[in-house]
Amino acid sequence: MDGPAAAGKGTLARRLAATLGLPYLDTGLLYRAVGRRVLDSGADPRDAAAAEAAARTLAAADLARTDLRVPEVDMAASAVAAVPGVRAALLDFQRAFGAASGAVLDGRDIGTVVFPQAPVKLFVTASPAERARRRWLELQGRGVAAELAQVEAELRARDAQDAARAAAPLKPAADAVLLDTTALDADAALAAAVAVVRGKG
Ligand code: C5P
Repeated sequence: MDGPAAAGKGTLARRLAATLGLPYLDTGLLYRAVGRRVLDSGADPRDAAAAEAAARTLAAADLARTDLRVPEVDMAASAVAAVPGVRAALLDFQRAFGAASGAVLDGRDIGTVVFPQAPVKLFVTASPAERARRRWLELQGRGVAAELAQVEAELRARDAQDAARAAAPLKPAADAVLLDTTALDADAALAAAVAVVRGKG
């Protein structure tokens, strides 16, 4: 499952995995943990050597941190994600996670790079305004102060950066099914995703 930021992939992928009895991996968390480590070290997330070193030494404890879903880490994650060495360092872990018995993974390059042979690929989108609204509500719910217009501007900037990079850019795989969740609530999105999976089963 791939798609732009705040399109509802996380909730949908988690629920789809539970419905199918499969493990779930939020691959964005890997890039967030790398970005967080680079920020903590005082280096610039665009510094390829620093980012690659952080990715190569990533540990389970880095993924368990509770401060990975904050605005400063959004852009740091996107910056380190543009570094080919970072992506290479995280690839084996992602592939091993899904290899044994199947899995649901969400990210930006799951259908194009990580699992190009995946039997089911979903590209989940929603309008920028709706995605900004959802992210703003999520931040509000966690007590993170944010302006709606600022949230939308940041989402657009991050998507543009993710789509423009040379290494594994954000784009639908040629054989991905597009799922626009703008007008769908979480249950309707899940039903649509399950229908796609069953249709290919
Ligand atoms: O999905 P999430 O918004 O948590 O991802 C944070 C950032 O990590 C994205 O903006 C993107 O730059 C990067 N990412 C990626 N490839 C993935 C997952 C996330 O490049 N498979």
